[in-house]
Amino acid sequence: MSVPLPRWLAHRGGGSLAPENTLAGIRLAARLGYRAVEFDVMLSGDGTPLLIHDETLERTTNGTGRVGETSDARLFSLDAGNGERLPRLSEAAALCRAYGLLANVEIKPSSGCEVPTAEVVARQCALLWQGAAVQPVLSSFSLAALEVARDLAPQIRRGVLWETPPADWPRDVERLRASSLHCSAARLSDEVLGEAQARGIPLLCYTVNAPDVAAGLFGRGVSALFTDRLDLFAAETGAYKALHLGG
Ligand code: G3P
Ligand code: MG
Repeated sequence: MSVPLPRWLAHRGGGSLAPENTLAGIRLAARLGYRAVEFDVMLSGDGTPLLIHDETLERTTNGTGRVGETSDARLFSLDAGNGERLPRLSEAAALCRAYGLLANVEIKPSSGCEVPTAEVVARQCALLWQGAAVQPVLSSFSLAALEVARDLAPQIRRGVLWETPPADWPRDVERLRASSLHCSAARLSDEVLGEAQARGIPLLCYTVNAPDVAAGLFGRGVSALFTDRLDLFAAETGAYKALHLGG
């Protein structure tokens, strides 16, 4: 099935208007009209996939220490902001399905845990979104993780994520049979943009929080943008780019 690619994705769940990577953030994105959310998924010390960006707990929770060395009992008792708990991947998936949101699940492994994290996330995503009309997209900065995802859940579309794509990025996109290229808006070159357009590969850029920058990027042909400022772009969220992710 081919699914329209929304022009806007709420970054880290609900951007900066709600605690990042929380169910409250995803609910806010849906309420504001967003059709897609991106969130980061890492494994707990017990091997449970949960939404969190950093390898350590200090910045976004009232806990301390490393996510990958902390038990579920401890992690799920923490405050992730405004009384929100850290969500399990299964909870985020259920919410996205209920709202019909396209989920960009970013596989965010603790260092050294690329393969096991991708194994768990790919397998769980295949089960959690089984039969769903709107299927997720898996992305990662880790090519090793995307390779695992390609092999374990080939039916789930993949986006390759780079801060700055290397010169030979099309080779990796082909090898990983990826549907989209995701990169930093601040570092986007005309070469990468031109190559992506010539190959018909949708280009998604993070993180854009200023309307003039967004207009410039869409004007250059970027397909979709990730934003923290859900309030600024809510009016545009219903607009779909006439582009389809393959697969
Ligand atoms: O997936 C796009 C973006 O989320 C990548 O950066 O550090 O916010 O996960 P980061
Ligand atoms: Mg991310």
